[in-house]
Amino acid sequence: MPHASTFYITTPIYYVNGRPHIGHAYTTLAADVIARWRRMKGHKVFFLTGTDEHGQKVYERAKERGMEPQAHCDDMVVHWKATFAKLGVQYDRFFRTTDADHVANVRAVLQKLWNEDLIYRAEYTGWYHIGDEIFVTEKDVEDGKYDRADLKQIAEANYFFKMGSFHEQLSAYLEAHPDFIRPENRMNEVKGFLKGELGDLCISRPKSRMPWGIELPFDPDYVTYVWFDALLNYLTATGYHPDGLGTPPAGFDSWRELWPANFHLLGKDILTTHSVYWTTMLFGMGVEPAQALYAHGWWTSKDGSKMSKSKGNTIDVDLLVDAFGVDAARYFFLREIRFGADGGFSYDGFLTRYNADLANDLGNLAHRGLSMCSNWLGAVVPDSAPGPDEAELVTLAREAVLGFDRELEALQYNKALEGLWTLISAGNKYIDTHAPWALNKAGDTERLGQVLRIVLEISFIAAALLLCVLPDRAEQLLNKLGMSVDDARAWLAKALNDDSDWLNALRAGAPVEVGEPLFPRFRELPPTIAALFEQEQAKPAKPAKAPKAEAPPAPVADELIAFEDFAKVKLRAGKILAASPHPNADKLLVLSVDIGEERPRQIVAGIAAKYAPETLVGKQVVVVINLKPAKLRGAMSEGMLLAAGGKEIVDLVTVDATPGEVVR
Ligand code: MSP
Repeated sequence: MPHASTFYITTPIYYVNGRPHIGHAYTTLAADVIARWRRMKGHKVFFLTGTDEHGQKVYERAKERGMEPQAHCDDMVVHWKATFAKLGVQYDRFFRTTDADHVANVRAVLQKLWNEDLIYRAEYTGWYHIGDEIFVTEKDVEDGKYDRADLKQIAEANYFFKMGSFHEQLSAYLEAHPDFIRPENRMNEVKGFLKGELGDLCISRPKSRMPWGIELPFDPDYVTYVWFDALLNYLTATGYHPDGLGTPPAGFDSWRELWPANFHLLGKDILTTHSVYWTTMLFGMGVEPAQALYAHGWWTSKDGSKMSKSKGNTIDVDLLVDAFGVDAARYFFLREIRFGADGGFSYDGFLTRYNADLANDLGNLAHRGLSMCSNWLGAVVPDSAPGPDEAELVTLAREAVLGFDRELEALQYNKALEGLWTLISAGNKYIDTHAPWALNKAGDTERLGQVLRIVLEISFIAAALLLCVLPDRAEQLLNKLGMSVDDARAWLAKALNDDSDWLNALRAGAPVEVGEPLFPRFRELPPTIAALFEQEQAKPAKPAKAPKAEAPPAPVADELIAFEDFAKVKLRAGKILAASPHPNADKLLVLSVDIGEERPRQIVAGIAAKYAPETLVGKQVVVVINLKPAKLRGAMSEGMLLAAGGKEIVDLVTVDATPGEVVR
């Protein structure tokens, strides 16, 4: 049995009949995040991913390319490795089913099962589709998937694994291990499946029909069925071999240290192969199953159909990463949907989440804390600790950290992040309510130091927890706060033991650095993505436009506008940071307004008759942000404030929302 601090996690191994898309990236990212988190916690981690290289699909693809299957695989693997590298995936082994240790292990397992009479040879008669080179069930024909005219009944000898003989054992195992298959609805699905008869599993293919696979040790005319070969990857990688001839990975003494794996992650499409084929194979081998199988949902395109190469509706990982950065891509996939549920991908959804969570909430918190500290406190961490006023934040920080760990351990990535974002939002609100600019103006350096220290501390917690999700930017943020990854690790060890001095982790006097924004805001989709977005928008059949000549006269009254016209005006919550009289115009004031971007905007407003400049600082206003910038009596204005009143201003429109929040 592995030691409690050993963590072995696997992803499916992916067919090399195409290049990776976000669906594949998703499982591997999910595994990477939890693997990184466990490493942060000081655990001994083994994270396995890789490629499934044998079988019909790969063979066909190689033929199409006019290549030898092995050469085709060697070529494809380069792309898979490159994509995983691009996503910052830190696997411990990239498994290939053509690796020599695997071929040896599969053959040894087959031999053992053959010797023990768990594999037998039998004649198989069935419908065969010549074009697709596969056996088709009667049900496939009934369901209309295949036309009987294209099928031929053939009889073929094959080898079968006595899967059916483990039916009862499997059902009993599921009853005794209610957490074995997650989420719960997937467990119910498998139990439902097992209510039917469980047949034996054909584990061979005659070479005359499909030669690309691992040769059966007891019959050189056959290769192993691709799933029987592929599933064994999880054990080969541990160093398991039925005759003890395997080699455990570096740093591990025996396969027993790694097995049973903590988690097999997989998409819901391959639940039966993992829960039924794999588990019964293990029963046959006398090896216990992994501790848990977690089946996640599908990324779909806008119309709800599964993203797949054959449908041509995949999203290119490289393009997303190039446009938004690796951290943004990682964050989106884990935050956007619950692990287990399906989710639709859209570029505008990606942009919205990026701007709201990363550019706005996290980026703002960090940037505001660092820049105020840099402007007013000599760019060092203030020497201060939380006071009674911060008690609530301390509780929230503790909950965010412990909750993050709890949810991640349960693979509830979105909840872990949501919990952390509660703290981040509270941090932004804390800035708003404690108005450090007013404290600075009033010369209250002590309280200013205390408030800014708290803001930096919350940024630190975010950075430390987010190292597993945003490895790049989170480390940058740590460094800006005068901390290192090792510091974060040391803090986490204490924090998870709940003996942390909450919100008091930074080193007073350590230099802080504002630097480049962590997540620059995107006003619109980057050009490479915008083109794809337009295609995506164009997909659903558009209602045919009525010919112009027949169009009825527009029934719209002059003063009415269409919603689309209103939607063109972008409104955001803002906060006035500074206000001063316009040097050349009595009626105008020059304002500095934070609207959640990396730097405040300068807005010139005709409100001098109503407001003295100093009364405006801290006011939370509504800003039109997409007005063309204009010079007003020599001062550039980058937006407009909403106000009540006709010729004379009665009141500015105010709103209680974090700067940058959309107003609509
Ligand atoms: N080679 C088998 C798995 C063998 S495991 C011993 C296979 N490969 S695959 O290339 O088709 O990849 C399947 C896995 O990729 C899915 O189970 C899932 O983890 C991931 N995804 C592929 N498309 C997906 C989506 N559209 N959405 C989410 N993940 C999906 O099956």
